[in-house]
Amino acid sequence: MLRPGDWMSRKQEGAPLALLTAWDALSGSWVAEAGVDAVLVGDSLAMVALGHATTLPVTLDEMLHHCRAVGRGVASVIPDPAAQPLLILDLPFLSYQCSTEQALAAAGRVLKESPAAAVKLEGAEPETLAAIDRLVRSGVPVMGHLGLTPQSVHQLGYRRQATDPVAQERVLRQAEALRQAGCFALVIEHVPADLAQRLQQLLPIPVIGIGAGDRCDGQVLVTADLLGLTPRQPPFAQARVNLRAQALPALRQWVESQRAPTSAAASPAPHC
Ligand code: KIV
Repeated sequence: MLRPGDWMSRKQEGAPLALLTAWDALSGSWVAEAGVDAVLVGDSLAMVALGHATTLPVTLDEMLHHCRAVGRGVASVIPDPAAQPLLILDLPFLSYQCSTEQALAAAGRVLKESPAAAVKLEGAEPETLAAIDRLVRSGVPVMGHLGLTPQSVHQLGYRRQATDPVAQERVLRQAEALRQAGCFALVIEHVPADLAQRLQQLLPIPVIGIGAGDRCDGQVLVTADLLGLTPRQPPFAQARVNLRAQALPALRQWVESQRAPTSAAASPAPHC
C-alpha cells in the first residue's frame, strides 16, 4: 500500500498516480484488480449508486456502509492488506463544516468503523483549514479538493472553475494553505490545464487532476464515467467503454426471452 506519508516521495520520483472511485464490492474489486494506487470512496456515490441529483444528501453512515463494501471487494481480489491500494473516503456535506470537533468526530468514525485510512475534504475556508490542521495533528491523513467542489453546487454549479486570473490566484493561495494545514495530496477538479500545471509545479504534494489537463502528478476518475455506466457524462470524462449500452440489449433480450413462448411453456402440462 502506498501510505499517505509516501505520496510526496512518489511525486519526487515522477511516477504518476492513478486513482479511481468505487461505491460497492463489485466496483471495489474491479478497480483494485486494475492496479490503482488508491481507491476513492467518493461522495459521487450519492449520484452514481443512490440516484440523488447531487452529492449533498448522502450521510456519513451511508458513506461508511459503502466504504465497508468497497473494502470487502478490494480484499476479495487482494487478500494481503499490505498489497491493497489506499482507501480514501469523502467526508460528506456538513459532516465536517460545522466545527473542528465535528470534523474530528466524523474522521474518527471513518478510521474506526471502515477500512479507509484517509479522508478527503472539499474547499479551503478558514474553518476547513483549521479542521484539517487538527485532523492531521491527530493522525488522520487528509486529501484536499479544490476547483469544482460538488458540495458547493448551489453556489458554483458544475461549470469549469477558476477561469479568470483573480480566481486562479485564489486557488493557488488556497492550495498552499491546504499544504500548510498538512494535506498529503490535492484533488483539483475541472479547472484550466495551465492552472493545474502551476499547482503541480508549486506544491511538493501530489496534485491529482480530474478534468484539469494531463500535467498533474496523477489523475482520478469516477469509475462509472470511465465505464460509461451513467446516463449523463461530465464533459471532461471520456468513457473508455459504454457498458450501459452493452448491458441494456442483454437485459432486454433476457426479459423478452422470458415472455416468448418456449416449446416447454407452450406444450400442455404433463399428466401426473
Ligand atoms: O466524489 C468523488 O467521486 C470525487 C471525485 C470526483 C474526485 O470527489
